[in-house]
Amino acid sequence: MQIKNSAVSMIIDASDQKELEEIKLQFLGRSGKFTLTLKNITKVPAEKRATIGKLANEVKDAIESTLEEKISSLKYQASDRRKQSIDITGPGIKPEIGHLHLITQAIEEVSEIFNHIGFTRVRYPEVEWDWYAFEALNFPQNHPARDDWETFFIKQTPDAKKGSVILTPHTSSGQIREMERKKTPPIRMLNIAKCYRRQSDVSHSPMFHQFEGLVVDKSISITHLKGTLDYFVKSYFGEDRKSRIRPYHFQFTEPSLEVDVTCGVCKGKGCKLCKEGWLELGGAGMVHPNVLKSGGINPKEYTGFAFGWGVERVLIMKEGIKIDDLRLLYSSNINFLEQF
Ligand code: PHE
Repeated sequence: MQIKNSAVSMIIDASDQKELEEIKLQFLGRSGKFTLTLKNITKVPAEKRATIGKLANEVKDAIESTLEEKISSLKYQASDRRKQSIDITGPGIKPEIGHLHLITQAIEEVSEIFNHIGFTRVRYPEVEWDWYAFEALNFPQNHPARDDWETFFIKQTPDAKKGSVILTPHTSSGQIREMERKKTPPIRMLNIAKCYRRQSDVSHSPMFHQFEGLVVDKSISITHLKGTLDYFVKSYFGEDRKSRIRPYHFQFTEPSLEVDVTCGVCKGKGCKLCKEGWLELGGAGMVHPNVLKSGGINPKEYTGFAFGWGVERVLIMKEGIKIDDLRLLYSSNINFLEQF
């Protein structure tokens, strides 16, 4: 009994694991106090041995269970102390803050610029009928001008009226869809969507984005188009940039134009990045009367202009040399994306 009491009180007072190990050895070890006492049991008269044996077992159990309890309470205290050692007044770990993808940022910026002058943002299908992407835009079936659009076709039986199913190669397919939606002008549409063409090099990827403007109303002339171009160029690229128009050809506009912007590096003087001071922005023109007719609008009553430019292209023209391969935008390369 004495052994039990002194062992238990020593265990309770112990302050660490090491001390507990020593106490355990001192009592239960091979030459420990308890072990030795047990050995002396042979000296006890035979009739008392059973009672003494039982008592000895109780003492052993008591020492062992006290030891176990103490070990777990020491462990708990240690973890509690660790918790308390966190200095809650110290500066925290800042969570990493990401940002929208460059293309998403550019789309938002372009939308906002056109929103200011009353354009409504829409988004028309990427999987489209031949009718909307070509036929209604004044491209007769098998016309060679279609080749420039390097189109992906989807294996599906063509529709009797709308033709084959394709991945739209330009946002101009939205022109007819918008005319159908609005039925009567005025129309001021900004269609921003994904487009697809069979192409891949430093300045092209098979999937890209275009933004397409369409304005149809009474007495719309080419001066409205030029004013809109200048407004966009100055808002997006900066006040010091100028735009110019050159004659071109598209099936769905007449006259058709290509729009250039002064180079951001040399500011129009001419450098190795540009063509004598100018960078090509994209196509534009006055809506062809046949296109208005396809959209159910009377070309004798209404006129319009349209433009369609690549989101990736305007972004690269703004950022310049930092994006030397357009496909990097879709590489999910975090080192590249973190620069912006
Ligand atoms: N859809 C033409 C293209 O993909 C661009 C364009 C749009 C041209 C509207 C004129 C008018 O190149």
